[in-house]
Amino acid sequence: MPAVLPETTPVIGFHDPLQYIRVRELFDRCGFTRDKIVQLVRPHYLIAQHRQAILDKLDNSYPLNVLVKLLVLCDRLPRAAVEMALCPMTLDEWIEAGILSIDGPSVVANHVINAQEDLFIAFDNLFTDHVHPDHVPGVSGTSGWLYKMTLRHQVDRTLDLCCGNGIQAMLAARHSNHVVGTDLNGRSLDFARFSATLNELDNIEFLEGSTFDPVRGQTFDLIVTNPPFVVSPESDYLFRDNDMQLDEFVKSIANDIPDYLNENGFGQILCNWIQTSQESWQDRLKSWFADKGCDVFVLCNLTHSPKEYVEFWKKDEADMAGFEDRSREWIDYLYRNDVESVSLGLITIRKRTSGIPNWFQSFNWIGKIQKFYGPELATRFGVMHYLSSNPTDDEMMKTRFVFPQDTRLSQHCSPNKKCWQTESAMIERPDGIAKPSQVDSVLADMLLQCNGDRTLENVLQTVQKKHQVNLFSSIHENLKAVRLMLYNGFLTPVELETF
Ligand SMILES: C[S@@+](CC[C@H](N)C(=O)[O-])C[C@H]1O[C@@H](n2cnc3c(N)ncnc32)[C@H](O)[C@@H]1O
Repeated sequence: MPAVLPETTPVIGFHDPLQYIRVRELFDRCGFTRDKIVQLVRPHYLIAQHRQAILDKLDNSYPLNVLVKLLVLCDRLPRAAVEMALCPMTLDEWIEAGILSIDGPSVVANHVINAQEDLFIAFDNLFTDHVHPDHVPGVSGTSGWLYKMTLRHQVDRTLDLCCGNGIQAMLAARHSNHVVGTDLNGRSLDFARFSATLNELDNIEFLEGSTFDPVRGQTFDLIVTNPPFVVSPESDYLFRDNDMQLDEFVKSIANDIPDYLNENGFGQILCNWIQTSQESWQDRLKSWFADKGCDVFVLCNLTHSPKEYVEFWKKDEADMAGFEDRSREWIDYLYRNDVESVSLGLITIRKRTSGIPNWFQSFNWIGKIQKFYGPELATRFGVMHYLSSNPTDDEMMKTRFVFPQDTRLSQHCSPNKKCWQTESAMIERPDGIAKPSQVDSVLADMLLQCNGDRTLENVLQTVQKKHQVNLFSSIHENLKAVRLMLYNGFLTPVELETF
């Protein structure tokens, strides 16, 4: 476990609640909003040469430019420019809050305050040569993955396990009566409390401790977690590493989550998991939830060989020279432990201890994650519940189904005398959660007719007429294809169990 330095005072925080209100007024007045920040720092402010070019472009005569240079890009600025931008607040107030420091004639930011979605979020300086073991990072790609995938129906109690800077907890606070955020790193809780107060969210409580320790005996309707899941022999950084073998840390969280969920509650884990020569990753994840009374849906976004996996982490590495040696040790560690591949993805579980048998489904999914997928994920659980309840052929025929409008059909054709002959056709949903599937022209047409207004029986009659085939003579076989479309994410019953 990385060493954590004891902290006595919060690393960040104003002492008077009114100061938070004044900061928000200041940000409002200067236009310090996500859109404006993105406009100013685009395209890639994290890349050194872009950052310098952006800094050079922003002159200090506008308060917004000064705030962005100071708080987002952690630049060193003349004291007079900073005092002008912070007015009517004083520089001293910001120094006492731990956010700014004086360095000779300049002012420097100790921490970042950035905007994500419509929240302000504080975390450690990104542009530092030395990253401490208890460094609190900003909102990473995986954080974004998780919050875009989070189920966002209204709930009573949510837990953000390993909450870090608090981004997941804050987003959940909008649709939860009460949120608890827990983390082993007390520094991250200081940042999270600061941001929550700045964002006027008073229904979140942040507790320090390892995994579920701070919430023993409590239960939740939603648990989200983006834990330190990296599969490596290292334990340098709290935000990235853990001191357990391979993916055991994630497994222990997965094993425990059901005990902290209310019936019908959802748990979402964004993480890595491994595959060995002895066990496919699907079987591995199934075994984590065996006999736990949970439905499980896994979206696997990336699968890497040990070499690719280590290479993947290289991009985050500050000390490249040392990394070459360490990466060899890292790859050896993976091979020594029979790791064939490491995957990254999202595991969503729903606790359901009675009724029809629990189900497990996994999709390889390389969607771009550009929108919020909560409703779609909820639909996935609804559809799988419907399928697992084994509707009879008759029941299905009386059901109205609808197909997602973002479905796309692509065909491979070859020339045949005077026309193109379709050799194969695939449906997929570039932005939706679905498994690309082969279809023939009858099935493709059937999908198109499923507009939600007509029963399946009615749809099949129309398709039968058009294609001059008898779909009803082997209806059971044909309904298997419909079931597969439901399973693969291309059909939904209009009336679905909702959560
Ligand atoms: C990848 S960061 C996630 C931060 C944030 N939830 C997000 O989505 O951006 C992982 C967090 O887990 C915390 N952590 C590490 N070990 C932990 C443990 N044993 N128990 C609780 N939190 C831990 C780290 O301090 C870090 O804040």
